[in-house]
Amino acid sequence: MSVRNRIEIVHGVNLDQLGRRDPQIYGGLTFDALEYRITAWAAELGLTARFFQTNHEGALVEHLHTLEGLADGILINPGAWTHYAWAIREALEIAALPAVEVHLSNPSDREEWRHLSVIEELCLATVSGQGPDGYREALVRIKQALDG
Ligand code: DQA
Repeated sequence: MSVRNRIEIVHGVNLDQLGRRDPQIYGGLTFDALEYRITAWAAELGLTARFFQTNHEGALVEHLHTLEGLADGILINPGAWTHYAWAIREALEIAALPAVEVHLSNPSDREEWRHLSVIEELCLATVSGQGPDGYREALVRIKQALDG
């Protein structure tokens, strides 16, 4: 059986602005630095990480449509779309790959409107409130699922 180790790291709206967003909530790391760390953690775990970020909901939907045959698992942080973008939920369902939801902050400790995640049910785990280190935890979770 071929190795299943290709992880698509999908970031949604405003996450490219890390470093400019409130450091008390999101930490001081820039988005490039976060991607650099994720790449290194993935390599340590024998995974390969490919990245996609967009501020356009339809672009994220269409990207999820392309993943069949190109990725074995998904790590997804949709940003604010987490809380209301049902079209992203449906596209994730269509992608039909094991997925882990990640958030730098813990949305359930924040404003009421952040408490709903429309993708949570489709994900095998949600990692929240651990800052950048949460991505390492999420990679471990997806690896466990892929290694079965
Ligand atoms: C976030 C939490 C969301 O509520 C927020 O809109 C974001 C980032 C996080 O990583 O903590 O943009 O997904």
